[in-house]
Amino acid sequence: MEKLHVNLGENSYDIKFTDSFTALPDAMREINTPKKLLIVTDTNVEKLYADEVKALLRENGYDAQVYAFPAGEEHKSMDAILGICAACINHGLDRKSMIAALGGGVVGDMAGFAAAIYMRGIDFIQIPTTLLSQSDSSVGGKTGIDFMESKNILGAFRQPRLVYINVSTLKTLPQEQFVSGMGEVIKHGIIRDGKFFEYLEQNADSVRTLNADTLIKMDKINCSIKAAVVETDEKENGLRAILNFGHTIGHAVESAFDFKMTHGECVGLGMIGASYIAKERNMIDMEALSRIEKILSLYGFKTRVKLPPAETVIEYMQKDKKKIAGKLKFVLPTEIGTVTQTTDVTRGEILSALEYIGE
Ligand SMILES: NC(=O)c1ccc[n+]([C@@H]2O[C@H](COP(=O)([O-])OP(=O)(O)OC[C@H]3O[C@@H](n4cnc5c(N)ncnc54)[C@H](O)[C@@H]3O)[C@@H](O)[C@H]2O)c1
Repeated sequence: MEKLHVNLGENSYDIKFTDSFTALPDAMREINTPKKLLIVTDTNVEKLYADEVKALLRENGYDAQVYAFPAGEEHKSMDAILGICAACINHGLDRKSMIAALGGGVVGDMAGFAAAIYMRGIDFIQIPTTLLSQSDSSVGGKTGIDFMESKNILGAFRQPRLVYINVSTLKTLPQEQFVSGMGEVIKHGIIRDGKFFEYLEQNADSVRTLNADTLIKMDKINCSIKAAVVETDEKENGLRAILNFGHTIGHAVESAFDFKMTHGECVGLGMIGASYIAKERNMIDMEALSRIEKILSLYGFKTRVKLPPAETVIEYMQKDKKKIAGKLKFVLPTEIGTVTQTTDVTRGEILSALEYIGE
């Protein structure tokens, strides 16, 4: 089985990549995870995979129960966390028990946060089932919830003990969620790995038809890029911020559309906007900008949209919690595979980027 080691001192762990759940009990046994656990999932994933995972773990001597909260970002809340904690108590979880997050990024962030606060912290593992969670959110240890209209405003760093990726779960993922996940995948190529970007350009058919070997290779490269960034900067003091490429404009567009467009689609537009700014500054050439736009449309992204008024988008941008000393932070490409961070992007540059991605 393909695997990747994430090196974070005593918080180190392995990510395993495969195309079924079969090897999960062995992967857990190998690192001696607690025998008693709560599988935390959402109501969509529960119907698809919870019975299979629970039965497999029970057959292998694990005392596993399932708790599902309603699917959707709107349930990434403290109420839902309290629901998970109540289920932990009802199932008799103690300090030597654990939580398994079975689902997408919402489940991973919530289950991880519950694991960080239940009894001041218990073990948890990630079993991600969306492309976004398999290629990004399950790695890195950021957990949390949304509160008072601010995304991920409450949370904790909590590294999982294991990430077990079964790429065949992507077969049931709705198409728009797959496209959204590709936004982060393409982002990883642009910020750190030009060769991976080329691989994505050349293997679009194989990725889109969900060839297991291709997905395993793709997820593994993704996780290695995310892991390398996280290993250098676990708590986001510097380098980790490059993962925000496309997010300054992307988040604002997402809010301006009242979250009716997927996160990945908005990041895709944000990446085009940021790359346009870089092109206008002569940091990249027209060919690089065209390749970025082309790969996004190859994977089903809209590269132009009818945006709300620029003022509205900029207003949302000003609320970005990642500002430094009141200044907006931008990540701009210097070539495909390398980026730089800056806080000197002007209002005029932002306006012309918005005009560029607008219809
Ligand atoms: N912790 C991090 O570092 C990090 C990084 C990026 C994003 N995030 C967070 O991740 C969340 C988004 O994650 P997401 O895109 O996975 O969304 P999600 O968890 O809401 O999943 C999307 C939808 O797909 C469904 N689903 C999940 N797996 C499925 C499958 N295999 N088949 C069918 N349906 C399935 C879910 O029920 C949900 O309806 C956001 O809350 C974001 O803040 C966290």
